Order: sequence, then C-alpha cells, then structure tokens
Amino acid sequence: RIVSVKGREVLDSRGRPTVEAEVAFEGATNTQSVVRAMVPSGKSTGGAEAKELRDADPGRYAGMGCLEAAKSIGVLGKAVVGMDPTDQKAIDAALLELDTSPQKDKSGIGANAVLAVSMACCRAGALVKGVPLCRHINDLAAKAIGEPVRMVMPVPCLNVINGGVHAGNLLAFQEFFLIPAGAESFGEALRIGAETYQVLKKVIQEEYGLRDTAVGDEGGFAPNIASPEEGMRLLMKAIERAGHTTKIFLGSDPAASEFFKDGTYDLGFKSAQVGGEKKSAAEMVELYEKICSDFPMVLLEDPFDEEDFASHAALTSKVGDRIEIVGDDLYCTNCSRVEKGLESKATNAMLLKVNQIGSVTESLDAWSLCRRNGWGVFVSHRSGETEDSFIADLSVGIGAGHIKSGAPCRSERLAKYNQLLRIEEELGIPYAGMKFRTPWDF
Ligand code: PGA
Ligand code: ZN
Repeated sequence: RIVSVKGREVLDSRGRPTVEAEVAFEGATNTQSVVRAMVPSGKSTGGAEAKELRDADPGRYAGMGCLEAAKSIGVLGKAVVGMDPTDQKAIDAALLELDTSPQKDKSGIGANAVLAVSMACCRAGALVKGVPLCRHINDLAAKAIGEPVRMVMPVPCLNVINGGVHAGNLLAFQEFFLIPAGAESFGEALRIGAETYQVLKKVIQEEYGLRDTAVGDEGGFAPNIASPEEGMRLLMKAIERAGHTTKIFLGSDPAASEFFKDGTYDLGFKSAQVGGEKKSAAEMVELYEKICSDFPMVLLEDPFDEEDFASHAALTSKVGDRIEIVGDDLYCTNCSRVEKGLESKATNAMLLKVNQIGSVTESLDAWSLCRRNGWGVFVSHRSGETEDSFIADLSVGIGAGHIKSGAPCRSERLAKYNQLLRIEEELGIPYAGMKFRTPWDF
C-alpha cells in the first residue's frame, strides 16, 4: 500500500522547472521502498492539452516555477495514501476526483502534478507485483481493452534534424526521423540509427561547415537549411554513406500548427523576410505527396493545423495506404478528439504523450480506443524531457510498435532508448520492424 507521497521541483532538459513525485510504499513483506517519476513538458503544444500548473511568480524562473505543482503533488498524494498501487485505475480515479476545473483539463491541480503521482504509483505497482514495469503496464493494457496484448519492441524513430520551434535555424518542419524499421531487433535498429547519425554529422559539416552541426532541443542537428526536401536529401546521403539503405526509412513531424497563420502555412515563418513561402492547405497536400514519392517515407505527423480535420482526411485518403498519418496536436491523447478523427477518417494513427492527457489510465484509454479501431499508436517524449524512462516501458507494455525519443544523442533522449536495450536483453521480446503501425498482426 502507498504510505506517503511527496513532490519536488526539479529541472528538465531545457533547464526549466518541472516536478518529481516521490512515493513511499510497502509491499507484502512490509518493508518500505521509494519510487520516483518526473514529468516532461512540450514547446509546440496542442491547444487541447491538459494544463500544467506553474507558479505565476515572475521573480523565479521567469514565471515557470513549479513550487505550486510540487505542493499539489502532496495534496493529491493524500487521496491515494493507503491504496494498493497495483490498482492503477482506482488510483487515477481518486486523483481525477480532485480535478474541479470546469473543462476537466486539470488546471488548478495541474496535469504535471497528477501525472507525476500517477506514473510513480504505476512504478510502485510493478514493484509490489515483482514484475518489470513493462509487464505491469501490459497487464493494465489488457484490462483496459479486455483481451491479452502482445508486447513488442518498438521501432525507434530518431529525430536527427531539428527545426520548427525546437531549433534556431530557418527550417519550418520540426522533426526529421530516421526509421530503422528494416532492422532485425531494437538493438540493431538503435545501432544503425546511431551510426547514421554520426555520418550525418560529417555530411552536414562537409556541406555547411562545423557551425551547422550544433543540435536542437531533441538532440538532432539544426543546420541552417530552409526546405524540407533539403533535410530529406541530407538524411538520404547519410543513410547511403553509412550503408543502411535497405533498412532505414524516413518520416517527418512538420508540427504544422506552429506555422499556420491566417489560413495559410508559412514555411518561412522563422525568416526575417515576410510572406515568402506561403502555401494553402491544398498546396501542402501536394508538397507532402511529392515528398512521399521522392523519398522512402513511411510516417507523417501533424501535417496540417490542429483544428483542420478535413485536410488531414484529404491527405490520409491519398497516401494513408502506405504512409502512417499521425495526429499529435490534432488529438492531444484525448479520446473525445480521437473520436472526431475516427469519424472524419482524419488520420490512421495517434501520437501518445502521457502529459497531454495527464494520467496513466487515461493514456491507456486513448491507446485502447485507437487499437480497437485498427489505428497505429506512436509513443512520444516531449521536447522538454527528463532522465525518467517511463515511456520506454509504456511503449513495450501496450505493444505500440514505435516510439520517438529524439536523436541518439543527449542522455534525456537516450534514457528511453537505453531502457529499451535492457528490456530487449532481459525479456527477449520480438521487434515490431515493418509492422510498426499494426504490431498486433505479425
Ligand atoms: P513538443 O513537440 O514536445 O515541443 O510539443 C513534440 C511534437 O510536436 O511531437
Ligand atoms: Zn508532434
């Protein structure tokens, strides 16, 4: 049972405050143990995300402080003290009862505070059961969907070129992925991805100079290129030179809401020149179709504005048979928005970010809704991360088939990939590979 819960303010990978929950619990032997969980924070956030609690004190961390959220963890903790940590559903229900916000978006108590407690209790649950975290989550997933769920090792989608609001270059598209779906195992996928990342550094240095090998928020390079095709070309050159042509595919998260303004997409939104690169939604469809035919693309995330379900549906109807179209800001890991996407056939997959919705149980509900409808589920970190590796176990436990945790560079990104190496070694779970979107079916 849970004995006590404490919150503290710590720093994330951008050097900004976030929260950590510390949960003390007793197992069958009556000895006390302590587990912790830390919460990430996004920069290109969706409008429908659950709300973080931050101090409005401009004198600390420019108003970004998390002392109130840490206090909230203590208050939330009182609601779960005495409970059985293996009963995640009951724990999250007790936490959500304290959400008195009108929109039920966790403002007031803070989605960051709720999630920290929820994840820490989940860790405690695994320890009480004496199983690895991914197995405990697998049990919770099976309960959520009402049938056994096959665990698979996810394909690591490595964001090796950073743009958008994650980098100081002129590139509008936010993320460019190496997707080693042709590898035989997670370990091989990470190795060939990391080898290609190192070659990419050399390619960028040769073509643009050493200064352009600086990295962005997620550890990918941030060369001062402007066009998405140039990013793709650099990736192809690196893959070829590294000798991994048959095994690595490409993907991108343009995070298009960030450059959607007044009804158009401005690919020059970070340049000083005004109005250079504006495109309509129809022109964006054409651009995506061209990229998908010119490059070995397998995944596109948030290709349009987060309220434009119709354009998503137009693209999905054209390329959805061979490309996974993922909704991130479009859905915010929120079942009611996913329902809307299912109705309009907007995409064929959902991005799963635990802090967008703010608890483990609600994340599993969104996953289960997608899985029941044959959609892919892509587990994701945030651009502001911590050394917490919870989502690695989550991705295996729900059999998500793929995960993005940035480049194979910077330890808050590697914390997840390294945890996956351990899981693969210890549990010998098969690799999703080319079945990353439909991992239940191999
Ligand atoms: P964020 O970006 O964590 O800054 O919101 C990640 C994404 O858009 O996928
Ligand atoms: Zn995204």
